[in-house]
Amino acid sequence: MERSLTMELVRVTEAAALKSARWMGRGKKEEADDAATSAMRTVFDTIPMKGTVVIGEGEMDEAPMLYIGEKLGTGDGPGVDVAVDPLEGTSIVAQGTWNALSVIAIADEKTLLHAPDMYMDKIAVGPEAVGKIDINAPTIDNLRAVAEAKNKNIEDIVVTVLDRPRHDKLVEEIREAGARIKLIPNGDVAGAINTAFEETGVDILMGIGGAPEGVISAVALKCLGGEIQGRLVPSNEEEEARCKSMGITDINTVFYMDDFCSGDDAIFAATGVTDGELLKGVQFKGVKATTQTVVMRAKSGTVRFIDGEHSLQKKPDLVMKS
Ligand code: FBP
Repeated sequence: MERSLTMELVRVTEAAALKSARWMGRGKKEEADDAATSAMRTVFDTIPMKGTVVIGEGEMDEAPMLYIGEKLGTGDGPGVDVAVDPLEGTSIVAQGTWNALSVIAIADEKTLLHAPDMYMDKIAVGPEAVGKIDINAPTIDNLRAVAEAKNKNIEDIVVTVLDRPRHDKLVEEIREAGARIKLIPNGDVAGAINTAFEETGVDILMGIGGAPEGVISAVALKCLGGEIQGRLVPSNEEEEARCKSMGITDINTVFYMDDFCSGDDAIFAATGVTDGELLKGVQFKGVKATTQTVVMRAKSGTVRFIDGEHSLQKKPDLVMKS
């Protein structure tokens, strides 16, 4: 994979974040998502790569752009799998709350898990706790293991959990264990990534969110040296049938890092749309706008934070062809 793609991906997520951030707090999540998707799509047309969307906005008949199977890029250069979430946290932007991201992950061709659009149970940690977690183990055992790996007391551990009724039992178990909880309204990709950055104050992500978000989180954690494990949670017979058609006959199958992303190389980029623990959101300042992006590569382990200042006069549509 070309190293120069790293910077190209930053351009992609910056454009999507800038466009969708205009919808912050306006109560219109679909408009915010559409703005991000079309900005992302436009920038892809300028990138020298041969990409195929494996995680996207839906199947071809459901999504006009960035649908699964869509070819992206100019058609030159390396073949890559592409996982996109133009706006991770549509409701977050609609409400103007925390941690909305514009996200993209690419990996060597045929190495990303083609996760279906259904729920997935997940457990994710940063580098210090790699190899210590087990999605099949009781909650308290995982919390003890992470505490020990990080040389902390269990009372010091902070667990990110999506604030959903389906997590009532999990929340009770975490409280009984004595750990602390950060309940988030949305955005478990940020929840997973944050486990790898000490300054976010978060140690572990647990609970059920989207399976596509699980793949995107896995690429980020691969670059960061962290770990995620996941198990699909089909919620009806149709979803069970989809699992079977993917060859998943045992619904308890656990996906490990190599199942999510089997190749050596991958690149991940995320730009903050609204403010979060790791990234600042987009700020509009008259003729300029600012962005903050994290971009990282699995092969080299390089993690970069990029502050962007964008001229809204020179790039009114936020895209320059060359
Ligand atoms: P959207 O950007 O599609 O709104 O997803 C946000 C999100 O919170 C994800 O981060 C998470 O994986 C998923 O939704 C959880 O799904 P649900 O809202 O159905 O519990």
